[in-house]
Amino acid sequence: MQLACSECGARAGDTLFCIACGGLLAFALDPGRYDATALRSLFDRRRGSNDPLDTSGVWRFRELLPPIARENVVTLRENVLPLYDARVGADYANATHASYVHLGMNPTASFKDAGMTAAISHAKAAGARVAVCASTGNTAAAMSAYCARAGIAGLVLVPAVGISAAKVAQTLDYGATVAAIDGDFDRALDVVRSLDPARVAIVNSINPYRIEGQKCAAFALLQARDWRVPDWLVLPGGNLGNTSAFGKGFREALALGLIDCVPRIAVVQAAGAAPFSKLFREGGDLVPVRAHTTATAIKIGAPASWRKALAEVRTSGGTVLDVTDEEIADARAIVGRDGIGCEPASAASLAGLRALRERGTIGRDDDVVLVLTGHVLKDGGYATAYHESAAPFANHIRSTPTDASLRELIDEVTASRV
Ligand code: F0G
Repeated sequence: MQLACSECGARAGDTLFCIACGGLLAFALDPGRYDATALRSLFDRRRGSNDPLDTSGVWRFRELLPPIARENVVTLRENVLPLYDARVGADYANATHASYVHLGMNPTASFKDAGMTAAISHAKAAGARVAVCASTGNTAAAMSAYCARAGIAGLVLVPAVGISAAKVAQTLDYGATVAAIDGDFDRALDVVRSLDPARVAIVNSINPYRIEGQKCAAFALLQARDWRVPDWLVLPGGNLGNTSAFGKGFREALALGLIDCVPRIAVVQAAGAAPFSKLFREGGDLVPVRAHTTATAIKIGAPASWRKALAEVRTSGGTVLDVTDEEIADARAIVGRDGIGCEPASAASLAGLRALRERGTIGRDDDVVLVLTGHVLKDGGYATAYHESAAPFANHIRSTPTDASLRELIDEVTASRV
């Protein structure tokens, strides 16, 4: 596989940005080297294998990844993706059916693990001693876990206020050093970008290995659907690495002949952190904003991968939109009612589907996959506040001071299900 600039196409070495134009780098796969039928049966056979590389939903597809020697692979059996029928969610969005692909069911409970296994394995192979990232919480947790497994020191830069306590606690558990900075994610990423990649491994999604790992979510999703392509994939957008990764995965699957069309990609941003949605509506270059949203994972005003993501959305015939924090909050509660649950940012998918159904962009009977990016337990404080509020789907704790009131409540619950 060749590493080249995603903007000017110049060949690149093992750097982070193009030396010619400063653009982000990307690996290019030569589809002519593969036989689709042989690949499919190889990947399908590996699902029944206990080889640690085969049990990972990233390394199972290792022929389609930059080569990394087996002894350097750092895996936690990531990217094994459950698909769930979104019965309540589809109804909420006025669609006949939809499904969730839950990337929160990963070892550190977010989609970041798929990219991190590739980035940290590469860092280990390259002899890195320190890995660094800027994060709204999930990248930090994932990087720290893989660093712990690899014996690499982890340093994360996170906003001092406004990120989920659970994500920080998780990161501390894995033993990384947490630097709380006075500023938002965009400032933290600026600091990280200014570091010397020869001294530290920078593992934000500007690192092309991250995208290689994350593109495997497209392969794993297709494989779990017996290679049937959905009409739409709807996902939240923040720094836009995941959009570019899914798009790349689907494009490669098409070029390899594993599938014969790609799904349309719909990216959903939070209204207060929606520079990509504005750009999609109005054209031009991305104009950074000062981000505000209670979906803290996607509180990003200057997404690094917007050019790559825009190309992927356009190639797929997809769209970009934004939804309000209230719409995200209600959609998150609905995902819970499906017995699934997710963190706030993830619910932008369902809120986005609802909006796209209202506009008629997505048809009632379309085959839609909603990407859930993080686990329900990632942000307990948010869920508690929602259920204590007067929001439409709030589920209040009932007080039962006496045995009689408890019995009344039991009768009430029983009656509601008869
Ligand atoms: N959903 C969740 C739960 C996230 O944590 C993120 C990004 C996104 C969606 C957006 O993905 O950036 O690839 O467009 N979280 C990063 C972090 C920024 O630091 O954990 P994206």
